[in-house]
Amino acid sequence: MEVIVARTAEEMSKVAAQEVVDVLNAKPNAVLGMATGSTPLGVYQELVKLHRRGELDFSHVTTFNLDEYVGLPITHPQSYHQFMHENFFRQVNIPAQNIHIPSGTTTNYPAFCAWYEQRIRECGGIDLQILGIGSDGHIAFNEPGSSLSSRTRLKTLARQTIDDNARFFEHRDDVPIYAITMGVGTILEARKIVLVASGKGKAKAIAQTVEG
Ligand code: PGA
Repeated sequence: MEVIVARTAEEMSKVAAQEVVDVLNAKPNAVLGMATGSTPLGVYQELVKLHRRGELDFSHVTTFNLDEYVGLPITHPQSYHQFMHENFFRQVNIPAQNIHIPSGTTTNYPAFCAWYEQRIRECGGIDLQILGIGSDGHIAFNEPGSSLSSRTRLKTLARQTIDDNARFFEHRDDVPIYAITMGVGTILEARKIVLVASGKGKAKAIAQTVEG
């Protein structure tokens, strides 16, 4: 593990974006793991900037998102489908058929989760996973106590996560209580992980992540 301390969130985003650039330079058809949240947003803005300048091509890239709220239609402004479309996918050139995001509206979650895991394997595994961290230390929607060997599955959100995410919804009661998420085991299989965190609210989670 390498810990890089950046002076600003912008600098942090540039460092993380450079990791993506390095992976794509070495392997233009890399498989990227994508994360949502306010922290990775800066990374996507950097990547979009590089793409617009003609310095970064995503035409052979495949992506897998970490998670999605259960019960929100993909057009809901707070769905992670919508977040990714608005903030990244519609601004770069990843072929639509190469984009994978867990479904929050499937009628058969166990079958969908098994299919998602299988798709990741069929695509050769994730080369680089972009990751945020919750103030309670969660990665994706793997709340504290999740098994280190867990795979893609349904999870109940922790109270802290619902509180943290309530700022994006009109009422706290509107925050979904379930999510579909890659497991910790799924995430740890990525060949490289770039975890981004910024601000005082994440300090404790990061200290515990780095120092144990
Ligand atoms: P945030 O979310 O970047 O919006 O703080 C991070 C997370 O919960 O993974």
